[in-house]
Amino acid sequence: MKILALAGDGIGPEIMVQALRVLDALGVAAEVEQALVGGAAYAATGHPLPQDTLAKAKAADAILFGAVGDPRYDNVERHLRPEQAILGLRAELGLFANLRPAKMFPGLEDASALRPEVARAIDLLIVRELNGDVYFGEKGMRTTAAGERQGYDVMAYSESEVQRIAHVAFRAAQGRGGRLCSVDKANVLETSQLWRNVVNDVAADYPDVTLSHMYVDNAAMQLVRNPGQFDVVVTGNLFGDILSDQASMCVGSIGLLASAALGSGTQGLYEPIHGSAPDIAGQGIANPLAMILSLAMLLRHSGRDEANAARIEAAVARALADGARGADLGGSMTTVELGDAVLRALEQEAVA
Ligand code: IPM
Ligand code: MG
Repeated sequence: MKILALAGDGIGPEIMVQALRVLDALGVAAEVEQALVGGAAYAATGHPLPQDTLAKAKAADAILFGAVGDPRYDNVERHLRPEQAILGLRAELGLFANLRPAKMFPGLEDASALRPEVARAIDLLIVRELNGDVYFGEKGMRTTAAGERQGYDVMAYSESEVQRIAHVAFRAAQGRGGRLCSVDKANVLETSQLWRNVVNDVAADYPDVTLSHMYVDNAAMQLVRNPGQFDVVVTGNLFGDILSDQASMCVGSIGLLASAALGSGTQGLYEPIHGSAPDIAGQGIANPLAMILSLAMLLRHSGRDEANAARIEAAVARALADGARGADLGGSMTTVELGDAVLRALEQEAVA
């Protein structure tokens, strides 16, 4: 398998090292290449997603992605911002389906922003559409009749875009608890009305899945009130971005949530849902677990290697159960120590 490792900015390089140690320890037959992306690429080449990086990404079976974002480039033109690298990769590679699982790890209930008895029940999957919505609609700056500046970002979804993400979500629900909740704002948005109608149509192909609909404001509330009610949630790009950050604090830390961005084949891009955390970059205290769990998703979806994916997830769960805690979880372990703890747990898994 050809893996392209794109560490990116901020804490990206620190956590990437730990994921690659885990890959190494598993002895998976993989060829790993690295390339520049984000602010690091902008600094070196003048573009956050250089042609060379894009070409390597297209040629790879899977991309392991750290994080992009750097406050030094907050004022460069939007199309040159570090974030454009991840948006460009998602668009160029046709990665339209973003899987963001959130599950409570036993022993972490106290770290959740929710009461332990509420948090314990969390085991959900957010299926976020990744190639459309306000992210990719027409955008710009114009002058109103009154002469003031007005920024705009068009929210739009075509039928086929909703259909393909709905199929991914229904299939995911079939493989899990059989329940799908589609989140939209159909009481206000035309886009959401189409979304809801198309999801209802696609539901006819999946009589074994129970479909419900929820407005996004209510979903945000329900996610905190009773997150255990959710199995699979399918939603658009913007709502999915927001709800997945919210879900992460429900399970204890944004440093724990991994994600897979998939297209129609087996190629995928795997990344923690968190950002580059410039405030703690270079200090060696970032939590590498979301990055390591992203590697597990890579092996599962692009490597078709369920055994090693499950092994990594079990090792992370074991390390956490044994008390591995970084600063984000109220502990004091460093990034490297957390990587060590996962490697030790992997060995114990092998013995057990
Ligand atoms: C995410 C991030 C990205 C997004 C940013 C970095 C463009 O927040 O993956 O959730 O908004 O999709
Ligand atoms: Mg986000």
